[in-house]
Amino acid sequence: MTPKQRERFAADVIGGLQCSPKTLPCKYFYDARGSELFEAICQTAEYYVTRADLALHEAHLAEIANCIGPNAHVIEFGSGAGIKTRKLLAALDRPRAYTPIEISAAALKRSAKELTQAFPDIEICPVRADYTRPIDDEALALDPPASRRVVYFPGSTIGNFTRDEARDFLVRMANIAGPKGAILVGVDLIKPRERLEAAYDDEDGITAQFNLNLLLRLQNDLGATLNLDDFAHEARFNDEARRIEMHLKAERDTVIELNGQRFKLAAGETIHTENSHKYSVSDFRELAETAGLASTRVWKDPEGLFSMHWLEKAKPPAGTTEG
Ligand code: AVI
Repeated sequence: MTPKQRERFAADVIGGLQCSPKTLPCKYFYDARGSELFEAICQTAEYYVTRADLALHEAHLAEIANCIGPNAHVIEFGSGAGIKTRKLLAALDRPRAYTPIEISAAALKRSAKELTQAFPDIEICPVRADYTRPIDDEALALDPPASRRVVYFPGSTIGNFTRDEARDFLVRMANIAGPKGAILVGVDLIKPRERLEAAYDDEDGITAQFNLNLLLRLQNDLGATLNLDDFAHEARFNDEARRIEMHLKAERDTVIELNGQRFKLAAGETIHTENSHKYSVSDFRELAETAGLASTRVWKDPEGLFSMHWLEKAKPPAGTTEG
């Protein structure tokens, strides 16, 4: 971490611990250990999301490729290092180019190199950027241009945003895709509480380690003083907000000290570390509509656990013209 990143991290942590209830941003889960733990979560028996997303791709690739059409520019939010990207690119009809957008220079370099070797006929145009922030359109321009842009956002990261943030994010993706473009976004489906809570609290305690790793980062990266044993992982489904929430729960009265500030936690108090929103197909369709998008195709994996929406700019109602 650069000094600037560390400063930002400390400011975000202090801001979160000053809130009531206390909170920490989930983006800080992913240091090297956190990323390894996330990979391990994806292998647990309980975390169905990754397998269902892959099964969806396997079941519907031909139809997805058909929607994308020939000569497209696929822009992925994420490094594109995964098997799904390879399957998608292999299924497309003469794709014009592929752009992974990723903040980690090392991950981007590795995946760009691998994809260039695997797909010598596709122009691979990596862009190093934080995809949650505005992206310079120049960096995405192609000469000659592709037939259309398709913004590809598999996985279920959209669920980690609040509904308002997800809507704003969809608007940004739509702006990148442009008027003829489309968005292909993965969305985890709502399902019974027991199944969801198990997926975020696996028997082997991998998700617990992933959540507690955030406190380890406070100690190691920021020099915070805290007692790790005072905290336990908690995953609970919030019915009203239709989301899984992860918390770090104080098992007894305890204190976190950072940069000379003391943050007291009473026994039972929690720090809210992550939301993972779950949507029905109609729920997400409605959200997309608020972003001016129409969900014209939806695919599910064979078990019906996970969905992928094909979103296009909604047509203005008959009799109106676009301004
Ligand atoms: C990255 N994101 C989609 C995961 C999720 O399911 O919300 C993060 C995660 N948190 C705990 N397990 C997995």
